[in-house]
Amino acid sequence: MISHLECSRDATHRCSPHALATVCSDDGAPLLVRYSGAVLRRDAVLARPWTMWRYREMLPIADDEEPVSLGEGATPLISLSNGAFVKDEAQNPTGSFKSRGMSVAVTVAKRLGVPALVAPSAGNAGGALSAYGARAGLHVRVYVPRDTPGLLVEEMQSYGADVVLVDGLIDGAGRFAAEYARESGAFNVATFREPYRVEGKKTMGYELVEQLGGVPGTIVYPTGGGTGLVAMWKAFEELEQLGWIDTKRPVMVAVQAEGCAPIVRAFDRGEESAARVEDGSTKMWGLRVPGGIGDRLALRALRESHGHAVAVSDAAADGAMRELHRYEGIDATEEGGATLAALRLLLSRGATLPAPIVLFNTATSLKYAPRA
Ligand SMILES: Cc1ncc(COP(=O)(O)O)c(C=O)c1O
Repeated sequence: MISHLECSRDATHRCSPHALATVCSDDGAPLLVRYSGAVLRRDAVLARPWTMWRYREMLPIADDEEPVSLGEGATPLISLSNGAFVKDEAQNPTGSFKSRGMSVAVTVAKRLGVPALVAPSAGNAGGALSAYGARAGLHVRVYVPRDTPGLLVEEMQSYGADVVLVDGLIDGAGRFAAEYARESGAFNVATFREPYRVEGKKTMGYELVEQLGGVPGTIVYPTGGGTGLVAMWKAFEELEQLGWIDTKRPVMVAVQAEGCAPIVRAFDRGEESAARVEDGSTKMWGLRVPGGIGDRLALRALRESHGHAVAVSDAAADGAMRELHRYEGIDATEEGGATLAALRLLLSRGATLPAPIVLFNTATSLKYAPRA
């Protein structure tokens, strides 16, 4: 059961989970959901259907409540010929890991009576929000950068969303979304601007522990705003409290694009927060995130895990993506390919990456621009 929402910068700042929440009203930092007295026995979970809602005691939902669900999560862990694994998030509804977070965020927002939903998106989050909004009967507006691949925009529109193309990158789209939320009363579900998308994404960590029988040795994750990294780090903390795992943690690796790598730059400089990257550019749409308010949490997770942050070129990511298609049969995007390219880069630099190594393919390539 949820006990409260806690500020990620100062745990003494708390607020109620029974009202709509955005960020900490004292310092603007992201809020995290805390649970009290939750018991989640592994054998009980094993007997449940293989969906991410099997961890419902550790999700913001009442025992008798139906989530706004399209069958999200429960994605396969596929072995590669090099011995690593791919957690294939392309197999989610709307084809990306974003469906996990949106299922939870829309479930809570609907329960708390929001009139409509809005978010900025690089593409995949908007598709997921549009689908879950349609399922919940809530109007959705999405702000996306003007050069977002057309299929992603059409997908949102097919679910009835109102899509607004804006100049600039996702942080600019975020300012439009915040303004629209203020003017219209729509609820803004931008990354880290409300506490529940993280809760959905943390189920990636829960599933890995189930699928591997313990924590992975290394997790390689394509990082934009850092939600996935932060969410899995939270999952491992909770799983330790639940008695599923001990204090051992995976080495977390954040992978960004050479043309837009605020977290890598801050990590290399030993900084606690990441300055915005000016003129960020990459063909990896999901990684074209020049800055955001989850930076401190992502950097903290990387350091606590004795992890790494690496940037790869678009060409290296594209080549590795094609290999995943051609030789492994996996529908990877460039973001997914970037994790394989980063693994090779780190190994060539002599990094120690304990097995099992899990690479994340975060989305399907089918909605991206057609390629030869
Ligand atoms: C395909 C894909 N991968 C990865 C990310 C990065 O997400 P985050 O770092 O917020 O978990 C995104 C975000 O837009 C994405 O669309």
